[in-house]
Amino acid sequence: MSKQFDVVVIGGGPGGYIAAIRAAQLGFAVACIDEWKNDKGGPAPGGTCTNVGCIPSKALLQSSEHYEHAGKHFAEHGIGLEKLSIDVKKMLARKDTVVKQNNDGILYLFKKNKVAFFHGRGSFVKAAEGGGYEIAVAGAANETLVGKQVVVATGSNARALPGVPFDEEMILSNDGALRIAGVPKKLGLIGSGVIGLEMGSVWRRLGAEVTVLEALPTFLGAVDEQIAKEAQKAFVKQGLKIELGVKVGEIKSDKKGVSVAYADAKGAAQTLAVDKLIVSIGRVANTTGLNAEAVGLTLDERGAIVVDAECRTNLPGVWAVGDVVRGPMLAHKAEEEGVAVAERIAGQHGHVDFNTIPWVIYTSPEIAWVGETEQQLKARGAAYKAGTFPFMANGRARALGDTTGMVKFLADAKTDEILGVHIVGPLASELIAEAVVAMSFRASSEDIARICHAHPSLSEATKEAALAVDKRTLNF
Ligand code: FAD
Ligand code: NAI
Repeated sequence: MSKQFDVVVIGGGPGGYIAAIRAAQLGFAVACIDEWKNDKGGPAPGGTCTNVGCIPSKALLQSSEHYEHAGKHFAEHGIGLEKLSIDVKKMLARKDTVVKQNNDGILYLFKKNKVAFFHGRGSFVKAAEGGGYEIAVAGAANETLVGKQVVVATGSNARALPGVPFDEEMILSNDGALRIAGVPKKLGLIGSGVIGLEMGSVWRRLGAEVTVLEALPTFLGAVDEQIAKEAQKAFVKQGLKIELGVKVGEIKSDKKGVSVAYADAKGAAQTLAVDKLIVSIGRVANTTGLNAEAVGLTLDERGAIVVDAECRTNLPGVWAVGDVVRGPMLAHKAEEEGVAVAERIAGQHGHVDFNTIPWVIYTSPEIAWVGETEQQLKARGAAYKAGTFPFMANGRARALGDTTGMVKFLADAKTDEILGVHIVGPLASELIAEAVVAMSFRASSEDIARICHAHPSLSEATKEAALAVDKRTLNF
């Protein structure tokens, strides 16, 4: 006997679990199926984000930052330390505890919101006779569910280099990169994108000699150029070796290490010998095991589920959200889509504003932005004004001992509407929220410049950058 639901969500990552909770809040009978297993084989909802993404990477970034501060910056504060050491096993165990707290938190939220959770793989069987779709669950739970509406949120997987599969021992994806048992002497990374920089920073801070090989000739091409240059300068000063414009060739690995043959930017043949190699060259949509063919769900040439602007697939009553569809692969984008879909199912006007989705790279300095970059504005011939303010001139940043970077505002030359805000510096991840709010309300740079900001705070740099658009900074 199949179990009937108004909404069946396949995938319990940020897109899926949030869609399930919002749908339940709206009064629907909801099931969420997720197959992720913890090390004991039990359920571990939260997807890539909770298990091998956002959460564990930020836990390790925090631990490694403490270690770096203790070793390199405590002395400036007059704090002496003898015999500083790092216990990688303990650091990884703490990270696992943080992950588990998040897994358990989601199971609790399912209970609280009366979402029925099924631990196993969900796959389409067929269109159900009375409408909706039959979904088979295989795993710890073995059931057939019928959902009048189905939300697919099956996420993404790390992309491997052709012919170089991940063994998670020597050639690591994000998964292996988050559980290296001891600090490698030499660590190689392919791809200087978000994962390359975050994971490279973790292991560099802990003492590894880190080299990043990047195919593109420009560093962080999607980031505002001025901000990317400032960040690159900081990373190089910290000791991260970044080689741009390389062409990666043959990769050989054995139990002792990995060697990467590549042509450098000048075309000269080089070899990088490392103890471990992280490959972070992007991610691919995951529809493995979904049995999309059974119901004729349309995928694009890269395997992503094809959706319209409102996350509708080609099948009536089937929606898809998050990494498995177009758009940035970010947890908060997945969540926004999950909420919007649940609201659309309820006949409401769910909305995602793709122009105000923030990006954050949690390195030190952090990099965060929302809206258009200066190079994008130039490319579309927009008339704009720019204003920047350096953290060097911010009292709180000086007190923190972290004055790298700046806040940059880009505003329409005529209307002064904020078109983009770009930050490199301390706590950029938190500062960007003000810019997102401002842009969501279509504020002008003058609006921010006229708002009272607490002193001393890093947010004063945001206000000053807004003042700089009109060339009237007060503290620089
Ligand atoms: P996922 O989180 O991938 O969840 C999909 C879930 O569906 C998984 O649990 C999977 O097991 C399950 N599933 C798949 N197929 C089936 C099936 N057939 N049946 C049942 N279950 C199934 N984003 C940020 O915004 N901020 C960050 O700081 C950040 N850091 C990251 C760090 C790393 C190292 C990585 C790899 C990613 C990071 N991301 C970050 C990206 C973020 O993790 C993803 O954008 C987000 O997890 C996407 O959510 P999702 O719900 O679409 O998919
Ligand atoms: P990415 O897309 O950020 O970066 C991949 C990099 O690899 C690019 O610079 C690309 O030019 C380079 N590359 C591609 N093929 C290559 C090759 N053959 N040789 C050398 N370089 C090559 O992808 P990444 O870092 O794997 O992360 C995947 C996604 O996960 C991100 O795009 C982001 O959506 C998400 N993520 C988000 C985080 C955050 O929000 N803080 C943190 C980590 C991941």
